[in-house]
Amino acid sequence: MKTMQWEDNKLLLIDQTKLPDELTYFECKTYQDVIKAIKTMVVRGAPAIGVAAAFGMALAYISGDNPQKAAREIKSSRPTAVNLFWAVDRVLGSDSPVDEAIKMYDEDIKTNKSIGAYGSKIIDDGDTILTHCNAGALACVDYGTALGVIRTAFKEGKNISVVCNETRPLCQGARLSVWEMQQDKIPVELIVDSAAGYLMQTGAIDKVVIGADRVAQGGVANKIGSLMVALAANRFNIPFYVAAPKSTFDYQNSIYDVEIEERNPEEVLYFGTSRLAPAETIIRNPAFDIVPDDLITGIITEEGIIKPF
Ligand code: MRU
Repeated sequence: MKTMQWEDNKLLLIDQTKLPDELTYFECKTYQDVIKAIKTMVVRGAPAIGVAAAFGMALAYISGDNPQKAAREIKSSRPTAVNLFWAVDRVLGSDSPVDEAIKMYDEDIKTNKSIGAYGSKIIDDGDTILTHCNAGALACVDYGTALGVIRTAFKEGKNISVVCNETRPLCQGARLSVWEMQQDKIPVELIVDSAAGYLMQTGAIDKVVIGADRVAQGGVANKIGSLMVALAANRFNIPFYVAAPKSTFDYQNSIYDVEIEERNPEEVLYFGTSRLAPAETIIRNPAFDIVPDDLITGIITEEGIIKPF
């Protein structure tokens, strides 16, 4: 199952806000529809945001919209995942926007399979792997980066299991990663984010593999909570890997100069429709944090496993 489909000059996106209860599609006929889908997390995850943005640019060309204006607006939909900017610029510079977006769609799947093949080498038979957020098929066009590593190791016959952090506030781990692992019949357990340290301390975790929204000089930006996982893994000498395609690499900036998205406080205040704290509570809701490079064992890319730069 693909996270998105290009059909009759329309982009169909699995509506990830509805998973795992409902598998429904959100239809984008204009680039403004794509912006809405990215902002509301119908589509999320760095590579998926990138490819959806590429199709957003293709829709702008098809509708005869001003491409520079569309590019500016699409780029302002979310600030942290660099794939968004990379994808928009790539389509903007191409002669054939629709073909370029389709090419990026196909490349994403090949890239993830390659990340899986390299990454599987660091997974041993019997490993329990902790992951955070969703760096799976749903975060890409298909297969996934961190979950792609796990998928490949499992397909190769390794007897492995997965622990997913639920990943508050939007629970991409609980809703999406657990669902993906269950679809593939890969053994999976769900924990609350704050249980990760305890599981590491008691020897229940052999490796950590997460995704990234941006890899830049000094470290990696990924879903809020990644830093705490990395600190705990370091304390208990557990290898900590980041799986990310080269399209997630930013060679221009220090990771500390990257804008960390602050999202709507209501995501924290409410769990579904239940309010968790007094209505007037002052809330901080950073969506990402930074894992410094000294806490990262290796970055698994489509070209091999590298050290952070
Ligand atoms: O806010 P999200 O759900 O878009 O955040 C996603 C993540 O943090 C993923 O780990 C990252 O984009 C890598 S996806 C292969």
